[in-house]
Amino acid sequence: MAAALETLVRQDYPNLQIIISDNASTDGTLAICEEFARGDPRIRIIRKQVNEGAVANFRTVLDAAEGEFFMWAAADDYWYPHFISRLLPALRADSAAGVAMCAVDRRLPDGAPFDLIRFIGDMNPNGMGHLRLLGKILSGAKYNLFIYGLFRKPLLQRAMRHFPVVLGGDRQFIAQMALACRFAYVDEILLTRTHQPKNFDAYMETMAKRGTLRRQMISFAGTILGSSVIPWWRKACLPVALMQYFMLSIPQKQFKRLNMIKIIARKFFISPRSLVMAIGLFGVSAVIGGFLAYLNVISSEFAVGTLSAAWLLVAAVLLNRGWAIRAQKSIERKLSGNDQEINRTLRELRYLSDTLLHPDLAVARTKSNQLSDHAVQRIEKHRKVVEFVRNLEDSRIREVYVQELFPGIEKESVPIGVINELTGHANKTDMLYVSAVAKHIGAKKMFEFGTYMGRTTFHLAHNNPDGQVFTLNLPPERDPRYAPYMGVLFKGREEEKRITQIHSDSREFDTAPYRQQFDFVFVDGDHSYDLVKNDTQKAFELIKQGGVIMWHDYAPKSDGLVRFFKEFTQDRPLFRIRSTCLLVYIDGVDVMNHKLGNLPHSLELEYREENPYLVESIYHS
Ligand SMILES: C[S@@+](CC[C@H](N)C(=O)[O-])C[C@H]1O[C@@H](n2cnc3c(N)ncnc32)[C@H](O)[C@@H]1O
Repeated sequence: MAAALETLVRQDYPNLQIIISDNASTDGTLAICEEFARGDPRIRIIRKQVNEGAVANFRTVLDAAEGEFFMWAAADDYWYPHFISRLLPALRADSAAGVAMCAVDRRLPDGAPFDLIRFIGDMNPNGMGHLRLLGKILSGAKYNLFIYGLFRKPLLQRAMRHFPVVLGGDRQFIAQMALACRFAYVDEILLTRTHQPKNFDAYMETMAKRGTLRRQMISFAGTILGSSVIPWWRKACLPVALMQYFMLSIPQKQFKRLNMIKIIARKFFISPRSLVMAIGLFGVSAVIGGFLAYLNVISSEFAVGTLSAAWLLVAAVLLNRGWAIRAQKSIERKLSGNDQEINRTLRELRYLSDTLLHPDLAVARTKSNQLSDHAVQRIEKHRKVVEFVRNLEDSRIREVYVQELFPGIEKESVPIGVINELTGHANKTDMLYVSAVAKHIGAKKMFEFGTYMGRTTFHLAHNNPDGQVFTLNLPPERDPRYAPYMGVLFKGREEEKRITQIHSDSREFDTAPYRQQFDFVFVDGDHSYDLVKNDTQKAFELIKQGGVIMWHDYAPKSDGLVRFFKEFTQDRPLFRIRSTCLLVYIDGVDVMNHKLGNLPHSLELEYREENPYLVESIYHS
């Protein structure tokens, strides 16, 4: 309680009133609150003689509040100092929004992370229509957390006339709000909420009890129909909403009994929930159609005709979906060899990336029942990422931030003279890292395997004004693909005087005249297994004592290269610079035991620390 209050009184929003309703507590809670109130005129305490329950308590504080905006606060939650000052502008910016909420970091009672709730992608409620929002709420998404958001008070007071006093009443209340107003969302973690597993267990237990679902349904219908904040025409969605609510709340135990439904649903590749929904909708429309025909509003032929046509359409969609998924499965099988492998890969993908190929997603974009080329490419790309990560784990490669390995490197300025777009290369940052490292170690003599347009060559020379760069590439006639572009980025520039172009196949290149002369070697030639092996061996011959070697393209796309380093690093571990596809060797440094430098303050690192769930992106895949 004290910790929660502490974070409330520290809100950076100036005009605040804090009302505490003590629900006849018998522990030391009241004393804590009084202690806070003594030094703070913004705090007011309302003491109740009898415990009237949570909802009455919710009302008490709302009725006592004076401001234009209002939020409820639970005693075991913690608010970031700018919770209110961030949410308020978001709420004000959208006059149709009645409540604003942020991302929520949920913790277990001992402070360990439980999960992180963000409403992003197609869950983002900003600008979402009322019915879609309601659909999402009733699909089980955690929008009920909006109850701890910032509300417009007049609307909230009117809505509070119907706060359902049943299990899951918060979801019903938020469903009511969804039909009454828009929701605003700020994608920033501003609230830490304590998740109580025992409450959840109790919830599931009550849910499984007889009569709970019935009471919930009645309460939900009453809330929607009786609400004075929902326009009457929107209430027409009640039959569908009730059905969705039913599907959401049906206890898992009872679901088991619906085996028949499951079997049929599987045939159509849809979820049992969707099938029950479809049957239910059919029933409702049949009843309405029959009733209208009975009243002679429409003819019975018309009712039967339209119903049949609608259902033929639904059946066609379902069948098409089934075919499409079958086609996808067969392609997946071809790609990965066997089912077990597919499942393992998909499971890993789920972990690795939120852009994973959800089966439905691929199916959605199928042409004439074939999986689109795009989807096939994505499966292939993800498979490569998984393979890459497996290889990385099997290699002796230590992942570090560049600042840990080269303390102070962030202070280097590395002017970029040539923009990346010219070269067609996918990432600029790697080149910056390479230039910065060469500059940071004060490299005087540098060697590069693979010139291509001379992008890195130019920057190495440009950023080390008294440095010399030797760059090796196949003679133009041996690589007609790249020949017209060879070294064009440094040709005719002042830096060219300090650049020596060597034309040779690196396999035939004799290192004898250059041995142990270079402070810095950059290996970026051909990425096949054999050539990386050849270039690496030569790089070690070229490097002088204390020198640095860097390799490019340690990434999922370079299978041969990754395979080579899996072997190579068993005896000779290397560093990998995080968020790049660069590997590093520093002569004389014991990779596994090297004491890393401290990281300088950075917003990104701070964010990473606060977000244990952030999965590092696999760069350059
Ligand atoms: C990835 S590009 C180099 C990119 C360049 N380092 C940069 O940062 O812009 C690879 C280059 O290696 C060259 N190359 C490929 N095989 C080679 C070999 N066996 N010997 C020497 N150069 C080779 C290609 O001609 C190509 O220009």
